[in-house]
Amino acid sequence: MAVCGTEVAHTVLYVAADMVENNTSIVTTSMAATNREMEKPLLNSSATSRILVIGATGYIGRFVAQEAVAAGHPTYALIRPFTASDQAKAQRVQELKDSGVHILYGCLSDHNSLVNTMKDMDVVISTMGGREITEQLMIVDAIKEVGTVKRFLPSEFGHDIDKAEPVEPGLTFYNEKRKIRRAVEAANIPFTYICCNSIAGWPYFYHTHPSELPPPTEQFEIYGDGNVKAYFVTGSDIGKYTIKTVDDIRTVNKTVHFRPPKNFLTLNELAAIWEKKISKTLPRVCISEQDLLAIAKANYLPESIVASLTHDIFIHGCQYKFEIDGHHDLEVCELYPEESYTAVDEFFDEYL
Ligand SMILES: NC(=O)c1ccc[n+]([C@@H]2O[C@H](COP(=O)([O-])OP(=O)(O)OC[C@H]3O[C@@H](n4cnc5c(N)ncnc54)[C@H](OP(=O)(O)O)[C@@H]3O)[C@@H](O)[C@H]2O)c1
Repeated sequence: MAVCGTEVAHTVLYVAADMVENNTSIVTTSMAATNREMEKPLLNSSATSRILVIGATGYIGRFVAQEAVAAGHPTYALIRPFTASDQAKAQRVQELKDSGVHILYGCLSDHNSLVNTMKDMDVVISTMGGREITEQLMIVDAIKEVGTVKRFLPSEFGHDIDKAEPVEPGLTFYNEKRKIRRAVEAANIPFTYICCNSIAGWPYFYHTHPSELPPPTEQFEIYGDGNVKAYFVTGSDIGKYTIKTVDDIRTVNKTVHFRPPKNFLTLNELAAIWEKKISKTLPRVCISEQDLLAIAKANYLPESIVASLTHDIFIHGCQYKFEIDGHHDLEVCELYPEESYTAVDEFFDEYL
């Protein structure tokens, strides 16, 4: 279990200073605070669901938190106290604040404070990162104890982990995520599992957030024959569609898949879109199935996990080799046909 860190964690928790400006209740608690103090409501009333995002300083989390605010939800981010002392993270916290997210400082390991925070939330979304995925069991315990959270979205945001079977070390990572699913289901917590497939961008096999890098300008590394299809979704669209599911009764206890038809592309098609943008043809280097397996086997984390998932996507075709039954599994563009999404062609313009 992660230690929440520094002395700060043991003194002041759950301070939502920006609520002062909104003339709403402030919850300032310490581990020694009385239960009565801890049970003060965070907000007196709200028109739409109150959403708590755990992991909002992360890559996926900031899109989710920002889209929650944009959709009009009172939105809260649970931030670890020591995170604010990291300069880059402090900047992200400031950006969240500027976009209208209320910041709560606290640790998952402080169960009582977490439970009291959950009492004021309708929806909890976890976007916690890879190495700490099993720490979500503490979130499950708190939601179970509170019993009033209407929806929990655990940190998924990738493939359907019950259907895909990547090689190691991706498989161990999936087994950890599966543990969270089983705990949520055993606790009878209403859930939605978000399977958004690949983040739009060039899918570098060694980078957890490939969209943070521009597409190649010297050569393409093509996995296998480059003809296996995958779905590419921008971070903003992941956030937007995720938030649409939280109040939607159709998505209770369902897995929601993101399959935007225009963004169902092979690597060769992706490369051709980029070449057209830069008016240049780039050489292609083949990264074979064996190459990807060797990188996965080397077990460097997180690169080997990315390589094993890259293998599952671009060699096995794990994103599309199953039907969406419309019962346990739903598709996001079919659920919300009125919403438009960003095509890869348009998204690549951002790198020019
Ligand atoms: N589909 C795709 O292509 C794709 C790509 C990447 C990730 N994902 C998935 O998306 C999810 C989020 O990953 P990410 O890459 O966005 O994560 P990330 O950038 O590493 O961010 C993780 C976030 O979780 C927070 N966190 C971690 N442990 C915590 C704890 N014990 N208590 C409170 N907060 C904690 C971190 O807070 P601090 O700021 O305090 O560290 C950070 O905000 C994962 O399930 C991942 O597998 C999918």
